[in-house]
Amino acid sequence: MNAARRPLIVGNWKMHKTVAETRAFIAELLAANLPEEIDLVVAPPFTALGAAHEALAESTVALGAQTMHEGAQGPFTGEISPVMLLELGVTYVILGHSERRLLFGESDAWVNSRVRSAIAHGITPIVAVGETSKERQAGQTDRRVIAQTVAALDGLDATDAARVVMAYEPIWAIGTGANCDPVEANRVMGEIRKSVGGLNDVPILYGGSMKPENVASYAQQPDINGGLVGGASLDPVGFAALIEAAARHA
Ligand code: PGA
Repeated sequence: MNAARRPLIVGNWKMHKTVAETRAFIAELLAANLPEEIDLVVAPPFTALGAAHEALAESTVALGAQTMHEGAQGPFTGEISPVMLLELGVTYVILGHSERRLLFGESDAWVNSRVRSAIAHGITPIVAVGETSKERQAGQTDRRVIAQTVAALDGLDATDAARVVMAYEPIWAIGTGANCDPVEANRVMGEIRKSVGGLNDVPILYGGSMKPENVASYAQQPDINGGLVGGASLDPVGFAALIEAAARHA
């Protein structure tokens, strides 16, 4: 990781953990001796954000949401607004995760309006981009992730672009155990960094089967500034071990 960009590890719980499970997880995570040189975020489901906020009050671990609507309020059944997230102490929001794009039809235009709204509300967007295995096999990886990045940040000036966190998550590596080669992930992240003005100093996270055993190989790469961790963020002991390993090699 590059010393100029503070490392960041984000736990994306997806649709896991009740309120009670969230409280138990946070108590156990905070009991671990977490390294100070890494910024940490946990992103529980909406229903557990309030409990997580209370449980994290005395800690430096920040709270993230897994998506949000761009509007402050309105007739959008089932949606959650940035104003509602702010009230619960949310300071980060994952936007454009491939599961949102593929399973729930989130378009590039939607991701863009949500990124703009998050920035306008003072919430740091964690913008996820990544290619399918078909796109990778067809040699379209760079074109795909650059197009997603340009679309997600459309209309932002360099000052606002510098407020985002990017996450490179090859779709074929998510939840499969088939993590991307760290040198290749670093190369793609270099392309993402160059694609839009203002990204030079933003953290770019790797996501896709990151684990305590492989995090060091990513942390050593110059353009990789941390991780967006799904499965390996669900167990507090394992997650603390991953964070510790990342800190040792940052
Ligand atoms: P994974 O998920 O770590 O379980 O592969 C990462 C993500 O989807 O953010």
